[in-house]
Amino acid sequence: MKLLLVFGFFWAAYSVLATPFQDCGSLASKTSFLVGKCPTPPCILLKGQSYNVTMNFTSSVDTKTLTINVTAHVAGSDVPWPGLDHDGCKELAATSHPCPISAGTDVNWMLTANVSPIYPSISTTVTFKLTDDSGGSQMCARIPVIVH
Ligand SMILES: *[C@@H]1O[C@H](CO)[C@@H](O)[C@H](O)[C@H]1NC(C)=O
Ligand SMILES: *[C@@H]1O[C@H](CO)[C@@H](O)[C@H](O)[C@H]1NC(C)=O
Ligand SMILES: *[C@@H]1O[C@H](CO)[C@@H](O)[C@H](O)[C@H]1NC(C)=O
Repeated sequence: MKLLLVFGFFWAAYSVLATPFQDCGSLASKTSFLVGKCPTPPCILLKGQSYNVTMNFTSSVDTKTLTINVTAHVAGSDVPWPGLDHDGCKELAATSHPCPISAGTDVNWMLTANVSPIYPSISTTVTFKLTDDSGGSQMCARIPVIVH
């Protein structure tokens, strides 16, 4: 894990096209992640702005659905990001690889996330998780974030 993190940081330094992340149990291979243009977490998210969140991976399974969940760790529990549509297939509808997805497919998933002006100013850890139809975590990425 440490090695992966170190590798992630070097890779990010080499190319600002990805955000290094803590892998929280991805089953998929070739995972890469980008939030906004953040090469070095903590990623600063300004209220009232939107950020593109990209998760690229090679699916390890056949799956009819992909469920997205974004949670922030607040006061010891995981609080769901408000107002999120959990249907992660929507983001793939207009791509060359819509749901259902077969094992081995290179998935390029992108969500535009709005940071509402009413969110609290907070320094937290955010987890982005895409789950397949058998409940497996295809990709799980965790990064420190500062909302202000
Ligand atoms: C995700 O894949 C797309 C299409 O191949 C590529 O343009 C983009 O840079 C990739 N993003 C990351 C974070 O790897
Ligand atoms: C998000 O990506 C879309 C499509 O690539 C682009 O048109 C848009 O400007 C991006 N938004 C932000 C906030 O970077
Ligand atoms: C998202 O995560 C929260 C916190 O762990 C959980 O309560 C909720 O049921 C999850 N939602 C989905 C759609 O998985």
